[in-house]
Order: sequence, then structure tokens, then C-alpha cells
Amino acid sequence: MLSLARPYWPLLFLATALSFVASLFSGSIAWLVKPVLDHIFLAKNYKYLNILPLVVIGIFCLRGFSAFFQAYLMRLAALRLVNDLRYRLYEKILRLPLEEVSAETTGKLVSRVINDTTALEPVLGDMFRTLMLEGLTVLTLVGIALYRRFDLALLALTVFPVVAIGARKLGARARKARKLAQQDMADVTHQVTESLQGLKEVKVYRQQRFFLVRFEKRLNSYLRHLLRVTKYREGSRLLVDLLTGLGGALVFTYGGYLVIHGEMTPGDFFSVLTAILMIFSPLRRISRAYTGLYDASAALERVEEVFSYREEKGGSLKALPPQKSLCFKDVSFRYDKDWVLKEINLEIPAGKVVALVGPSGAGKSTLVSLIPRFYDPTEGEILLDGINLREFELASLRSLIGLVSQDIFLFNATVYENIAFGKPGASREEVIQAAKMAYAHEFIEKLPRGYDTVLGEKGFSLSGGQKQRLAIARAILKNPPILILDEATSHLDAVSEQKVQQALEKLMKGRTTIVIAHRLSTVTRADLLVVMDRGRIVALGQHEILLQTSPLYRRLYETFALAAANS
Ligand SMILES: Nc1ncnc2c1ncn2[C@@H]1O[C@H](COP(=O)(O)OP(=O)(O)OP(=O)(O)O)[C@@H](O)[C@H]1O
Ligand SMILES: [Mg+2]
Repeated sequence: MLSLARPYWPLLFLATALSFVASLFSGSIAWLVKPVLDHIFLAKNYKYLNILPLVVIGIFCLRGFSAFFQAYLMRLAALRLVNDLRYRLYEKILRLPLEEVSAETTGKLVSRVINDTTALEPVLGDMFRTLMLEGLTVLTLVGIALYRRFDLALLALTVFPVVAIGARKLGARARKARKLAQQDMADVTHQVTESLQGLKEVKVYRQQRFFLVRFEKRLNSYLRHLLRVTKYREGSRLLVDLLTGLGGALVFTYGGYLVIHGEMTPGDFFSVLTAILMIFSPLRRISRAYTGLYDASAALERVEEVFSYREEKGGSLKALPPQKSLCFKDVSFRYDKDWVLKEINLEIPAGKVVALVGPSGAGKSTLVSLIPRFYDPTEGEILLDGINLREFELASLRSLIGLVSQDIFLFNATVYENIAFGKPGASREEVIQAAKMAYAHEFIEKLPRGYDTVLGEKGFSLSGGQKQRLAIARAILKNPPILILDEATSHLDAVSEQKVQQALEKLMKGRTTIVIAHRLSTVTRADLLVVMDRGRIVALGQHEILLQTSPLYRRLYETFALAAANS
């Protein structure tokens, strides 16, 4: 937080200076009680009595305005600071490796950017303000009380340590409860996002009840924990109230004794009393800010946890387009406990097309996800022209790769922007050219606003096949030396598939390409077919030969041919 606050030191300094001024004015009220009582009221001095209202108004105005600007500046600094924090957090999240952002952590991460930082917002502003302004006010008032009558003031102040210890204890408890509440809120966020993403499943399997019950449980737990926070926070307020009473009683008893015995003027007595009574309301605010500080530190801890996550790390070499080959050497991989890839040895010659085929769950998508280093092999290594992928700068490695993935994601942006993703700064002509090659131009023209139609979450929806063609256009526009097509045409009808296939074949020519397809007809012409099953390569060769040598390949091919014949 301190490092984030650095740019705002001037603002904070100014605000601090203002809070100093405001506290001085607060102090002057208690200070004035004595001269007013002793020299004006008791001395019946009319001349000063006339200017007294002006002085009072003046003091309150100055105190009010300095407090106003102080609060405004502090808030400004706090809000900016929290926004900076959000920015850094998001930046960090975009750098996390894929392992850290599985489905279950998404809700947590979102909650940290939204809820936790929001929890910091008010606390931070008020906390700064309160601790500065009220802290100085308390010090000034204490100073005045001590100056007026040392022993009386000291007696009243004996309750302070009790307040401090109490506030500390309660604050720690509030913090614990707060942490649990934030956790609940993260779960709530996660569940809402999740059920919206899977709304169709929820509806058709009529799982509303199930989700509602779970939601209610989480909400109740959130409520319980927040109530506990309130209990501790208000508890420390109660403590201050009770002790104020005690302090007041002490002052009245001892002070009254002193005044009656003529050891103290009534002016001194009321001055001390006013100061002591005035101390308690800022003190109460300080104790609240103190528990708030605990709240904030709980949220901050959760935010800091994200900053401690491991980041994706690349090497220092600049990756160049493959000249010889992309080579998997003894690669094994697991996401968590079960092996998904086992002892993969595969050489993909530069400029050739390699097709991965095999039953669902064989590990095909996993294998290609190792190439852009979404994940790293658990064992073994992947070499690009003999150099381990880990040696390359991530950005330069990824700039070589075009990817049409199995589950295409379109962003909440225009069609044009979604395609231009492939090549930032691409001209309109280039984008249209790519769309034409992917057989996407025609349907794009028919969209309500053509290339300027907004897609994605809050925009226009496309069919599965249309999405695929956009993703292909994206890859065509990028014109990458390494092309990965994971079921790129699976959602297309036979006619469009044929057209897109032609375009893809043009694209694949002379390019290092890995294609994955269930419809074997689209890959029989590949330079090399790799048959995978349960994480292993079980056969490898060209179509004709595999038909002879691999029973699994023959079975896959025959089933496919049969299905094609039937449809
Ligand atoms: N992110 C992940 N975390 C954990 N396990 C995963 C993850 N992704 C895939 N798996 C597991 O890895 C195995 C291989 O999955 P993969 O997606 O690579 O198969 P595939 O060959 O592409 O299948 P399909 O043809 O159905 O696309 C599966 O058993 C799957 O459960
Ligand atoms: Mg797959």
C-alpha cells in the first residue's frame, strides 16, 4: 500500500496540513471556554461579549472548511489508490499461468478485483481521514486539558489505556469475521457467474432449486459473519461510551471538589471538562477506524495473495519461425494427479501438416496446448529447432502461433475488432480479405451492422459455425508460421466445411501445422497422421498405411465413413 501511495504523497501532505488546521480550531473551542467564562461572563464584560458570536462563527467556519477540503483530498487520494490497485491486480491476473485460473478460482479472482478492493475504498478514505484529523484533534485537546489543570486531566485520561486494549481485542475478532464474510462473498460471486454461464443447463435440468438452496446457504453465512463484524465494531463503540461516562464522572467528582475549595476557577474546570468530553467523540471514531483498519487489512491480505501468485515466465531468446522441426521429446503431462500425456515422442517437420486423431479424451487438445506454453510438460521437453520452448520469450513464441481452439471465445467487441485481434493495427481491407478467405464475409455483411456489429457477452450472438469462421479469419489474418487447428471446422455443415477446408488447405501449405479432427475425411491428406489413445501415441504414418497397421485408426475411420454415408 505504501508503494502504491507514493504518487499521492503531496495530496496526503496537503490533507494532513489541513487536518492540523482543523484540529487547532477544534482545540481553540475548548481553549476559549476559560477566558469566556472567567473574563467575559463572570467579569460582566460587554465589549467582548459583542464580538464573541463573530469569533465563534469564524472558528466554526474555518474548522468546517478545512475539514471539508481535508476530507475531499484524502478521499481523492484513497479512490485513486484503490483504482491503481485494481489496475495492477488485473494486470497481474492477465499474467497468471492457466493453472492458476481454473474454473473454480475464477470467482475468487473476480471477487478480489471487485469486492475486496471495494472493501478497501471507504475504509481507506475514512481511515486516513479519521486517523489524521481525529488523532490530531485528540492530541490538541489532551494538551489543552493538561495545560489547564494537570492532575484533573490526568485522572480523566486514565480510562484511555482500557479503551485502547479493548479496541485492539475487538478489532482482531472483527478482522477474522470479516475475512470469512469476504470468502462467502467470493463464493456467492462465483456461483452467480457460474449459473449464468450454464443457464441453459440449469433450466433444462431444472436445477434452480439446487442453486437457490446453495445460494441461500452462502448468503446466510455471509450475513452471520457480517453481523459478527458489526457486533465487534459496535462493541468497541459501546466500550468508548461507557468509559466516557466514567471519565466524566471522575472529572465532576474531583473537579467539583477543587472548584468548591477554591483551588480552581470554574473556567479552568469547564475548560478541562469540555476538552475531555470533546475527546471522546473523535476517540470513538478512531476506535471505529481502527476496527476498519482490520477490515481493510483482511481484504488487503486477500489482494496481496494474488500478487504472490506465480507468474508465467519465459526465457530471453527471441523465437524464430521453425526451420527444421518442432519436436516433443519424452513429454509426459498431468493437470493434477492423473497422467494425461505419457511419453510423447513426436517430430513435426517444419512446413508440414500433422494431424492428431483419436477418441475423445485422448489428450489431443492438451498436447497442442503445450506449444504456446499454456502449460509446461511435467516431464520431458519440447524443442523448436533444437531449443527448449522455455528458453524463448513468451511473447515472441506466441507471436509465431495461430490458434483456432475447440471452444472459441469472441470478445465483447465488433466483428472487425474480433478478427483484427489476430493482427493489431490491421487495415480494414486486410480484415475483409481474411474474412473472405474464411468464408465469413458473406454472413458478416448480413449482420445488422456488418463488420461493426458488436459481439460477445453483451452483443450479438453467432452460431457455432459462424464463430468458427471468425476464429479462422483471425488466424488467417495473423498469418503465423505455426498453425494449430483444434476441431476448427467441427460446427460447419458439409458444404461450408468443404469451402472452409479449401481455404484452410491453402493456408496450411508450407506452414507448420497441427490439425485435430474427429471427421477424418478432413485430415486424410495430412503429411503425417498421429493416432492417440489415452495419452499415448499408438500409431503414426500416412492414411493408407494406418488403415493397414492401426486397428484403432481403422475403426475410427470406418465409424466415421459409416456415419457420413448414413447422413
Ligand atoms: N484444464 C484441465 N484440468 C484438468 N484436467 C483436464 C483439463 N483439460 C483436460 N483435462 C483432462 O485431460 C484429458 C484429455 O483431455 P483433452 O481435452 O486433451 O482431450 P481431447 O483428446 O482433446 O478430447 P476431445 O476429442 O474430446 O476434444 C481428459 O481426461 C480431461 O479430463
Ligand atoms: Mg480436444
